[in-house]
Amino acid sequence: MTQIAITRTAHPKQTPPDDSLAFGKVFTDHMFLMNYDAGKGWHAPRIEPYGPFTLDPACCVLHYGQGIFDGLKAFRGADGQIRLFRVADHAKRLNRSAHYLCIPELDPAMVEESIRALVEVDQRWVPSKPGTSLYIRPTVIATETFLGVHPSHSYLYYLIIGPVGAYYKEGMNPVRILASDTYVRAVKGGLGAAKTMANYAASLYGAEEAQKAGYTQVLWLDAVEHRYLDEVGTMNIMLKIGDEIVTPPLNGAILAGITRDSVLTLLRAWGYRVSERPVAIDEVLAAAKAGTLEMWGTGTAAVISPVGELGYKGERYVINGGRTGALTQKLYDTIVGIQYGTTPDPYGWATTLRG
Ligand SMILES: Cc1ncc(COP(=O)(O)O)c(C=O)c1O
Repeated sequence: MTQIAITRTAHPKQTPPDDSLAFGKVFTDHMFLMNYDAGKGWHAPRIEPYGPFTLDPACCVLHYGQGIFDGLKAFRGADGQIRLFRVADHAKRLNRSAHYLCIPELDPAMVEESIRALVEVDQRWVPSKPGTSLYIRPTVIATETFLGVHPSHSYLYYLIIGPVGAYYKEGMNPVRILASDTYVRAVKGGLGAAKTMANYAASLYGAEEAQKAGYTQVLWLDAVEHRYLDEVGTMNIMLKIGDEIVTPPLNGAILAGITRDSVLTLLRAWGYRVSERPVAIDEVLAAAKAGTLEMWGTGTAAVISPVGELGYKGERYVINGGRTGALTQKLYDTIVGIQYGTTPDPYGWATTLRG
């Protein structure tokens, strides 16, 4: 693996107090960069002081959105150790997203190494208050200067990191979600399975409409029949209907969430009947009315987000009495325990820094 060149900042910033942290507003002293050029491959891996970089206004990503990213976290445990959660899986997913966007192969080992190296350099920035963490954002953008729709011949891989606050400051809060029969996030055969900028752009309008109607998130339905559940907000969706745990299959329109995989792995180990199968909105409404439903979203930001109310076609359906279900809580506690090193980690999901 090519040696990473490190240029340290001459002006280290003051780290913010853990109490003041929000999401995605503060970044550390350094960033990681690496370039790709046709014929040269990926080259010049380096860590530099964090700061703006220049892009030609004609560069591809600014016009045609050929760009991908991923998102993961590092946690400082009560023992002071910094743990990365499923870093190898996030690195592999970045490479899968690259594939969907015609971006040249990124060696997952190099991506993982870039994350470890940058977190090590900026480790004083990893907050320690319970619930806080360091958010890690690897990104790849197409940089060729050319107005034409074709895969770029040059790319920039960059990695920025920053401390983030606790998602739940006063305990887990069930959210209200609106199933949309108008707007769609992604379609089979499109880019839904990739973590690409376009999917988030596509989600903005529907999310705004849901918020105007008093909901926190959109429950995205499939783009063809507007009938089957896809995802919720920027999370995967899961349900406990009676004694069956159900989540939509990875059908091409859905991102393969790492939290989704962690939850499914735990549930199977705990002996639950877990099905990855299409879930029709009618089935969800019937289970909500019968009072046999628990529902939650899974994702890196919140880990587990309980659903307390579902809106659909002008009706409101209360789920699990509007409260966090027992299984929802147990899943949250287990994964968070693994992330902070207070719960056994039988799958080796949390890996510590080298020092
Ligand atoms: C669209 C979408 N779906 C699902 C997820 C959940 O994925 P993960 O659990 O890997 O964070 C995310 C967040 O990364 C997302 O942006």
